Amino acid sequence: MNNKIKAAITSVGGYVPPDKLTNFDLEKMVDTNDEWIRTRTGIEERRILKGEGLATSDMVVPAVLELCRKRGIDPLEIDCLIVGTVTPDMVFPATANIACEKLGAKNAWGFDVSAACSGFLYTLTLGASLIESGRYKKVVVCGADKMSAIVDYSDRSTCIIFGDGAGAVLLEPDTEGYGVLDSILKSDGSGCQFLHMKAGGSKKPATIETVMAKEHYIYQEGQAVFKFAVKGMADVSAELLERNKLTGDDIAWLVPHQANKRIIDATAHRMGLSPEKVMLNIQRYGNTTAGTIPLCLWEWEKQLKKGDKIVLAAFGGGFTWGATLVKWAY
Ligand code: UT7
Repeated sequence: MNNKIKAAITSVGGYVPPDKLTNFDLEKMVDTNDEWIRTRTGIEERRILKGEGLATSDMVVPAVLELCRKRGIDPLEIDCLIVGTVTPDMVFPATANIACEKLGAKNAWGFDVSAACSGFLYTLTLGASLIESGRYKKVVVCGADKMSAIVDYSDRSTCIIFGDGAGAVLLEPDTEGYGVLDSILKSDGSGCQFLHMKAGGSKKPATIETVMAKEHYIYQEGQAVFKFAVKGMADVSAELLERNKLTGDDIAWLVPHQANKRIIDATAHRMGLSPEKVMLNIQRYGNTTAGTIPLCLWEWEKQLKKGDKIVLAAFGGGFTWGATLVKWAY
């Protein structure tokens, strides 16, 4: 018996839009081909949120409603909603505020976290701290991105990677040792040069010139990011295992950010995990940025068993990266 309050994940919800964008669709849009995309990234198709005025909050809402329904709670019971996203509905107010209004979560406060592909790990650690403080009983953390809003569909080096989606988990207090056990989060702002959006912030507000120069889209130096990601995600996952005196044998699942299958394989290899223990849905959804990890939990929920030790790992824009150890609670 461990009386210290931990934040247990007690429900999971997810949402991916119905419209698919396949590698074959992309072949008609840019100079690429299915074989190149599959072998270099592992991606076969992604989902795209279509519809006038639909935004990231419109994916957060169904994901949160699903987790409430599964847990048998009303959105009114949510104390706090944290959304990890780099594609907020608006620069302000926060997507979390907009989503709470749409959910009828009138008793919740909330905010957004900008940590790109590590958005879910950052929000999970924050949400867990709120639960561990003893002040909050139901915190929802969400990773959600409408990447199609910031992808240049004439740039073959980025448009093949990204997709849209959202996933969310409910955190509740647990005193029996289940939940978020440990987390190592890192950031290095020198990585900004390799992955960013040039305009639209206070440094370079939107003008006709920034629009004409396509500066409101993702800028990525793929090879440089790849190099840092392979090392960063594998190193931090190994560090987390070592710090908790665990080996790959103790881990039931690796839940990796889905950016590139080759980065995932390198991380699993470094942790001594066989491929059957790695959650992988990149082939169907591509890289949904903050959405990837909770969407994996959503899809694998039925296969998870109470007491399973799982490692969540991510690397992305910032640079931001990290790994989190969770003991599954149900
Ligand atoms: O989640 C956020 C963090 N982001 C990441 O983790 C992404 C990390 N980076 C990557 O996943 C990979 O770098 C990419 C998938 C983006 C690119 O793969 P790569 O193996 O690094 O390719 P490359 O950029 O080195 O390009 C190799 C070749 C080039 O042609 P040349 O110069 O060798 O003739 C590219 O022009 O492939 C060409 N190329 C393409 N060919 C067909 C680049 N994109 C494409 C494409 N289709 N879509």
